[in-house]
Amino acid sequence: MGDTAKIGIGGSTVELPVLKGTAGPDVVDIRKLYSGADVFTYDPGFTSTASCESKITFIDGDQGILLHRGYPIDQLAEKSSFLEVCYLLLHGELPTAAEYAEFEHNITYHTMVHEQFDRFFQGFRRDAHPMAIMVGAVGALSAFYHDSTNIDDPEQRMISAHRMIAKIPTIAARAYKYSLGQPFVYPRNDCSYAENFLRMCFSVPAEDWKPNPVLTRAMDRIFILHADHEQNASTSTVRLAGSSGANPFACIAAGIASLWGPKHGGANEEALNMLKEIGTVENIPDFVKGVKNRERLLMGFGHRVYKNYDPRAKVMQTTCHEVLAAVGHSNDPLLKVAMELEKIALSDEFFIERKLYPNVDFYSGITLRALGFPPEMFTVLFALARTVGWIAQWKEMIEDPSQKIGRPRQLYTGAPQRDYVAVEKR
Ligand code: CMC
Repeated sequence: MGDTAKIGIGGSTVELPVLKGTAGPDVVDIRKLYSGADVFTYDPGFTSTASCESKITFIDGDQGILLHRGYPIDQLAEKSSFLEVCYLLLHGELPTAAEYAEFEHNITYHTMVHEQFDRFFQGFRRDAHPMAIMVGAVGALSAFYHDSTNIDDPEQRMISAHRMIAKIPTIAARAYKYSLGQPFVYPRNDCSYAENFLRMCFSVPAEDWKPNPVLTRAMDRIFILHADHEQNASTSTVRLAGSSGANPFACIAAGIASLWGPKHGGANEEALNMLKEIGTVENIPDFVKGVKNRERLLMGFGHRVYKNYDPRAKVMQTTCHEVLAAVGHSNDPLLKVAMELEKIALSDEFFIERKLYPNVDFYSGITLRALGFPPEMFTVLFALARTVGWIAQWKEMIEDPSQKIGRPRQLYTGAPQRDYVAVEKR
């Protein structure tokens, strides 16, 4: 018999099992609390609530550790490739050479989108935010790929996963090209995943496009850094949407909507805008004063789980320097502002007390800008990379025999029951 937790309520005691994971805090299993004691727990924002059991990703926020299937993020960023990480997240183990070759074939086989799908983009205004296009376009995938929407068929689940990972770069690149008024570029299956995406974004039919291996590797590493992050807002959105039995394309569209917010994936765009607004190192003290007066947030800082340096931010910082050197912008004034801002914040009592450290978004904006992307595309790139995490988590949930529709309870503080009042008597 394992540990139990005892909760005394209204003179009686309820005993609840305590579950142990392979890492991280134990969890009190409160599933029988309502039937045993007629009370709910209250935890808006899920600050102390594990919403599911998962074997995919583990974060130790105090130590600043992020593991995918047990492998540290810095090792994956240095030694692996994004597609290999996709396989790892989906299947649980690193692939053998033969498994990798088959997986790569399956992904490249699905990179094109239905020709009629392209017309879908024409309905958007040219100045539409590309994330708005992503929410609509990805949701529309379920109208084009009916043959992989039966969630009870394991083969269809895997095909939908391959399709999502394969088509999301094509859709993201189209959202970008549409905003520029340039022709869509078809995917090329002889390119790597990252190179194909960069090519679809930056090549034009009028001239040859040559990949820069440093930038391709940086793009791939940025995808790795964003591939999954356990039960964050967008992933929880995907799981909740999927818990009703909705098809995976619709669930991922819901995840993209959730990611868009400035406190989540939208922070990379906001972080760059903030650095631009600060402009020069001399303006930093005033800006920090404003943050401490609660006039604004320091974007790219702070995290619900990390109370230490985000391990992704460290890799991103290195990648940032590599990319800036490769494009000849080592003296980018915004990099100077970012580094000085980080230094000042990390030595300031306000940030130290609250354990606020740079997160992945602090350096990603400068890096993505140097790669050639406008700020509106930053969150799109995050969505592209996170798609594998979403689909892996969705698949894990569907394959969990104890899975139930997600249905939170509430603390109701509205009017008690009362009788309807006719309009003339109000
Ligand atoms: N700038 C200034 N103060 C902050 C910041 C910040 N970026 N983040 C948190 N705080 C303060 C907050 O005001 C609070 O202070 P107090 O206790 O005195 O009221 C304290 O720190 C704790 O913050 P919280 O809001 O309770 O923390 P949370 O876990 O609810 O929020 C967060 C986490 C990421 C939403 C928040 O830190 C934030 O808004 N950061 C800026 C946006 C950002 O960079 N988001 C990207 C997250 S990483 C990428 C991703 O996975 O999406």
